[in-house]
Formats: sequence, C-alpha cells, structure tokens
Amino acid sequence: MLVLGIETTCDETAAAVVERKADGTGHILSNVVLSQVDEHAVFGGVVPEIAARAHVEAIDVIIDEAMREAGTTYDDLDGIAAAAGPGLIGGVIVGLTTAKAIALVKKVPLIAINHLEAHALTARLTDNTAFPYLLFLASGGHTQLVAVLGVGEYVRLGTTQDDAIGEAFDKTAKLLGLGYPGGPQVERQAFSGNKTRFALPRPMQHRKDADFSFSGLKTALRLEAERVAPLSPQDIADLCASFQEAVVDVVHDRLRSGLKLFRARFGEPAALVAAGGVAANQAVRGALTRVAMETGTPLAVPPLKLCTDNGAMIAWAGIERLALGLTDTMAFAPRARWPL
Ligand code: KG4
Ligand code: ZN
Repeated sequence: MLVLGIETTCDETAAAVVERKADGTGHILSNVVLSQVDEHAVFGGVVPEIAARAHVEAIDVIIDEAMREAGTTYDDLDGIAAAAGPGLIGGVIVGLTTAKAIALVKKVPLIAINHLEAHALTARLTDNTAFPYLLFLASGGHTQLVAVLGVGEYVRLGTTQDDAIGEAFDKTAKLLGLGYPGGPQVERQAFSGNKTRFALPRPMQHRKDADFSFSGLKTALRLEAERVAPLSPQDIADLCASFQEAVVDVVHDRLRSGLKLFRARFGEPAALVAAGGVAANQAVRGALTRVAMETGTPLAVPPLKLCTDNGAMIAWAGIERLALGLTDTMAFAPRARWPL
C-alpha cells in the first residue's frame, strides 16, 4: 500500500510517500519538509496569512520533490492523504484542496487526516507499536495524555488547563529575547545553564489526575527574570535550564499519574509513546526514559524529524485508515478545530 501525505496545518509545507509492506511494516520512501521559520521569525511567531501564502507558493514543488525522491508515479498511489485540521485554516485549505485535485484527476481515494491522529500513530510507523498505548502528545498547540486503543479510538486521560507545553517554551524564549521558534533555543541555552539556580514551581505535581498547567510556571519565570534584570548571558542560560528542569519534573510526575489512570481503565499499555515537537527535547526525552524504566513500560519515541510536523506521519495515518476502508469524499471540509 502506497500513500502520498500532505501537511500544511502550521508553518511547514511537507509531503511524503510512505509504503506499508505485506508484513505490516511502514517504509518512508520520501519525506520533504520546507520550513517557513525564517518568514515568521521577524514577527516572533507564525502569521497565518503569511503561512497560507507560503504554502500556496511551495506546495506543488514540495509534492513533486516527494514523488521524485520516492521514484513513484501518481498511478502507483493507493491513496492521497492530507491533514484536514486542526490548524491555521488558510494552510489547511491549501493542502486539502491540492490533495482533492490530485485524487480527482488520478481517481485515487482521498483520506482526510486529523493532524493530531497523525502524531498519535507515528510510533506505529517507526516502532511498529501495538495497541493499546499511552500517548504523550506535546506540541505547540497541544498537551495531552491519550489512551490510544485503536485507529480512531482515542480516550483523553489528561490535558493542559492553560498553555500548551510547546507554547510555554515559546513564551519563555520570547520573554528572554531568544527568538522563534522558542523550544530549540531554550534547549540550547539550557545546556550551558545551572538548572538549580532558580527555584521555579512544579504546577499540578502529586495530583491524582493527569492534567497539566504551565501558566504559573511562566509567571514565576517572568518574576525571576525581572528580579535579576538586566540579564547577562549566564542569567539567561540559568533561567532556561531552571525552566526546562521544572518542565521535566512536571512531565515525569504527570506521566506517572497518566500511566496509573491508563492501567486502572485499560490494563497494561504496550508502550509509552511520545509525539509532537516538544518530544524533540533531549531533557523531556530523558524524563520519558525515566518513567519507562521506573514502571517497566516499553518506550517508543520517534526520531526527531518525525516528532515535528512532517508529511510521513500524514501518509502513515492515511495508510492506517485506508487499510480499514476509511476514506473521505470531496465534500470533506477543512477544520480549524478538530479534537482528537
Ligand atoms: O508538533 P509541532 O512541530 O507543531 C505543532 O504544534 O503541531 O510542535 C512545535 C512546538 C513548538 O512550540 C516548538 O517550540 C516545540 O514544539 N519544540 C521544542 C523543541 N523543538 C520544537 N520544544 C522544546 N525543545 C525542543 N527541542
Ligand atoms: Zn504538530
């Protein structure tokens, strides 16, 4: 089974061709990602109108390149998958409409994919992970612990009460003048910082639920930054390291709690799985490893390139749905909001 996947929900124009062999394993034949980071950097965040226009300009070339790298023709495809939301609606329209056009002309099925579902299923592409598993979805817009019971069967065990985890990294970076996107910048600074210098709160720790909160941490960080201002490069590194350490502690505690809830309701999970841009963070990965070891749960964390937004995860989700006969019609409308 061979599927082309298209991703345009945020600031990456991406396309990929993925194949599933008869034995069920997935193989990425191509995975082309064009980041718009430079176009948005001067504004300190993603500007929806700029993103939509950039997707229009790039999408044809990116799809062409993905097809060429894969060495496939459109006639070889069993399906065209596109992220149909949730995300910035202008971008979603570009990707979904392009997929519809190809599907119509080439007479192949269209599969409209929930971007979050694609993040959720990536571990099955990279690690062949079996259902059910506990998913930690940690991106710029989402922070969720989800019991993944099957394709299309998701039970949310916990979520954030305010900011998303990636948003917390981005806002920290902005506050400290580190630019956008913030996560990788904060991580880089944290390497040379002292993580014990600033005593920051660990919101939600020791609660029985599996929810998150990051706004209190953000405020505490701002107050500390104001207290020691003007900030030296070492101050900034120490603030980043202390912030990241607080996040790591929160992730560790909330995942332990989430695993408990999972076991009580669904039995033993096949794995603890991470997805989303923040799963690219080495310290966060360390927390996941710790939880996995402490609880004897296998860990599946996709490689960095497949944690952040990409076309391969969309193509793979398309394969998973196509295999179950779940295709969509031309009437499928783009969705700005679309909970998992
Ligand atoms: O999944 P993603 O690529 O896009 C969506 O939000 O769907 O995630 C982007 C988020 C941003 O908030 C970015 O700052 C964060 O992931 N991120 C990181 C790192 N790399 C990306 N956060 C912390 N450390 C990183 N290395
Ligand atoms: Zn994403």
